[in-house]
Amino acid sequence: MIVCRSKAEIEKLRRVNRLVARILADIRRMAVPGATTREIDAAAEALVGEAGAVPAFKGYHGYPATVCASINEQVVHGIPSNRRLAEGDVLSLDIGAKLDGFFGDCAVTVPVGRVSDDAVRLLRVTEEALFHGIEAVRPGVRVSDIGAAVQRHVEAHGFSVVREFVGHGIGTALHEEPQIANYGPGGYGPRLAEGMVLAIEPMVNRGGPGVKVLGDGWTAVTRDGSLSAHFEHTVVVTLDGCEILTLLEDDASRVRERMGAAVRS
Ligand code: MF3
Ligand code: CO
Repeated sequence: MIVCRSKAEIEKLRRVNRLVARILADIRRMAVPGATTREIDAAAEALVGEAGAVPAFKGYHGYPATVCASINEQVVHGIPSNRRLAEGDVLSLDIGAKLDGFFGDCAVTVPVGRVSDDAVRLLRVTEEALFHGIEAVRPGVRVSDIGAAVQRHVEAHGFSVVREFVGHGIGTALHEEPQIANYGPGGYGPRLAEGMVLAIEPMVNRGGPGVKVLGDGWTAVTRDGSLSAHFEHTVVVTLDGCEILTLLEDDASRVRERMGAAVRS
């Protein structure tokens, strides 16, 4: 069953999602050459705690940290460590938190210093693909219309979509129904309705779509070693589209310029 949230519940979801978006905006600035992902994780954990919230990933099936920090060919679920970021890396930061019984979840991939033109293009296309997915969201469309929009954009630019991980409903649990694949034909799955809350999170590889999980049981990497990017927003379905709960006003104007007026926060 997919839950449709009440106005009061949506307000709580707004608060926690805005919180994770703000924290992500803070910690992404720490992604500079020489920094370790453990330092970034520690800062995130402190900010979550100061806000009276609880990290959502820490302890989830034994995951050991507040953020996922995935570097270069790491797709998602990289564990923060003492590895130092280097000029030219790309870093995906994913953060989730729980506040007042409700969950927030968002992710971004950022360049570390100056990165290759290829990396810039991969990041741009992945974030655009996320917004194409978001633009597909409105009452009456089917869940798979989201993934179809994502995949179309990604493949039009010669990149590939990861199949093994999906977006998800979110609310009083981090992962609720439905699962939201980032590929496949449109027109399938449940119809969206006002009040549904969805975390949409495409993962895009420079090379082939294949991924494997490393021996730590968490870190997913591309099979061919190619670069990977990941962006995530949590949205609530509204009467005529959706509201992005994790989009800060600063970011909204930047995205609007690129994607058009449809983007609302
Ligand atoms: N954004 C990811 C997700 O929603 C992060 C989960 S990491 C985990 O699935 F540790 F919680 F699994
Ligand atoms: Co998620």
